[in-house]
Amino acid sequence: MKLKLSLIIVMALSISATQAHTSGEALFKAKCSMCHIMHRPSDFSKMVAPPVMGITMHVKMAHPNKKGFKAFIKDYVIHPSKEKALCEKNTIQRFNLMPSQKDNVTPEELDKIAEYLYDNFAQKGNNMGCRGMMHKMHRGMHKDMKIYGM
Ligand code: HEC
Repeated sequence: MKLKLSLIIVMALSISATQAHTSGEALFKAKCSMCHIMHRPSDFSKMVAPPVMGITMHVKMAHPNKKGFKAFIKDYVIHPSKEKALCEKNTIQRFNLMPSQKDNVTPEELDKIAEYLYDNFAQKGNNMGCRGMMHKMHRGMHKDMKIYGM
């Protein structure tokens, strides 16, 4: 009996963990992915913003810890500005500044979205420390970054 109960608790916990995950993903898909596409672009000329992978990587490079990462996303999405932007200048030249999403997304939703981005994108070298990560990115991903206009 005791065993059964703990099994149920474990199951309930893992279900709620999955749901939290799904809702960040679902929110991103509903509110951000029309601009920040989630696959490798097939037609670059139709892109209206850098893909999800690119924005996550740039924010992560500047804010490797989750708390700072989430704080940046929560602020930038509501109050974007050229001064705060972390991506390279030509990104804004090409796509213009991101329009504020303040009427489109709540701070609670953004919290879940930021959590989802941090946990699921730009994972490379997570356990290498910042220097190692930057090094690997510059070696391996420079071409990608150029392609993405970041
Ligand atoms: C109408 C299109 C559009 C929508 C919708 C949109 N974005 Fe953006 N976003 C952009 C553009 C364009 C840029 C690149 C220019 C810039 O950095 O402001 C950008 C840049 C970003 C950046 C990088 C900021 C930096 O430091 O340069 C983040 C992070 C971001 N968006 C997150 C989000 C999230 C999260 C959502 C959903 C709540 C979202 N965006 C919805 C167009 C959009």
